[in-house]
Amino acid sequence: MNLKEKIAIRAKPIDKTLQKYLKIREPTKLYEASAHIPLAGGKRLRPVMALITCDMVGGDSEKAILFATALETIHNFTLVHDDVMDDDDLRHGVAACHTIYGLSTAILAGDTLFAYAFEMITDSDIDDRIKADLVQNVAYVVRKIAEGQQMDINFEEKETVEPKDYLEMIRLKTSILFGAAAYGGARIGGTNEDEARELENMATNVGLGFQIWDDYLDATASEDVLGKPSGSDIRQGKRTLLVIEALNRANSKQRRRLLEILDSDNNDEDIVEAVNIMDECGALSECHIQANKYLEGARKVLLKYPESEARTLFEELLEYMVTRGH
Ligand code: IPE
Ligand code: IPE
Ligand code: MG
Ligand code: MG
Ligand code: MG
Repeated sequence: MNLKEKIAIRAKPIDKTLQKYLKIREPTKLYEASAHIPLAGGKRLRPVMALITCDMVGGDSEKAILFATALETIHNFTLVHDDVMDDDDLRHGVAACHTIYGLSTAILAGDTLFAYAFEMITDSDIDDRIKADLVQNVAYVVRKIAEGQQMDINFEEKETVEPKDYLEMIRLKTSILFGAAAYGGARIGGTNEDEARELENMATNVGLGFQIWDDYLDATASEDVLGKPSGSDIRQGKRTLLVIEALNRANSKQRRRLLEILDSDNNDEDIVEAVNIMDECGALSECHIQANKYLEGARKVLLKYPESEARTLFEELLEYMVTRGH
């Protein structure tokens, strides 16, 4: 069985729970808009990570299903709002929420998904103290995601940003939700706080590689593969690691042209030219290396746990996060 099939099997209870909660009610436009993106697809990486962390530490992942689904609901809430902010019109291979239902309903659909997540966690059959800890942790993470998303927008106005500032931005907007998946899965599985924090750190670290790789794919993979627009970051003038590395390495002519493309009303040809500049000056291959570097430390943490199907799947999932294909 290949990794995608293994992930799909672990994602089944997640899909079922999403179907159950995301029922259409009145006003139907709001609930249809809320269900649209989460039910259209997605890799389900965060909830599957929560379930396999729970199994790996010796817990019963049945108890983690609602928490895991809450993370997927949070993730989809951020996607619905992210597509408004990034002005993207395709997600999970279908039209973005705001494209179909309009801006106002898309904002409300995001809010609705956010609220469902807390209903799911409080509906969980887990110890009250752990439940309170998870509610607090998830609320904190969502606030941090908002900080990261604001930094991402602020950076568009800058000529370039320091790699350390970029890393902090992606840690907030993307990585810590993976951290929350590992943390919550571990806590529900019965580990102590320290052990859960170690797993959280590990997943957060690989989450950095995941976002670097997402930026790489945005520039190099097709819309069909991504299920979302390709070249969107360049169109929007995002300061991704690709851009930062390219600006550091480019000659003055390349640098001028890259900035001009990023900061003007660019077209498809301009975007191809920007990717070529990134390639010529070695930024693409540098990001490839950087994304992979986050795996090394992660393996060491996993090896502290006894060999199991869950541990193997965890290792494969982490690798997939930083190498998933074109
Ligand atoms: C997309 O995440 C948003 C980022 C943080 C880069 P995923 O690639 O996990 O989104 P799905 O699989 O389409 O839901
Ligand atoms: C999104 O980063 C992070 C969140 C949704 C919080 P991106 O803007 O790179 O995600 P995609 O590429 O649109 O999925
Ligand atoms: Mg986006
Ligand atoms: Mg974005
Ligand atoms: Mg992206």
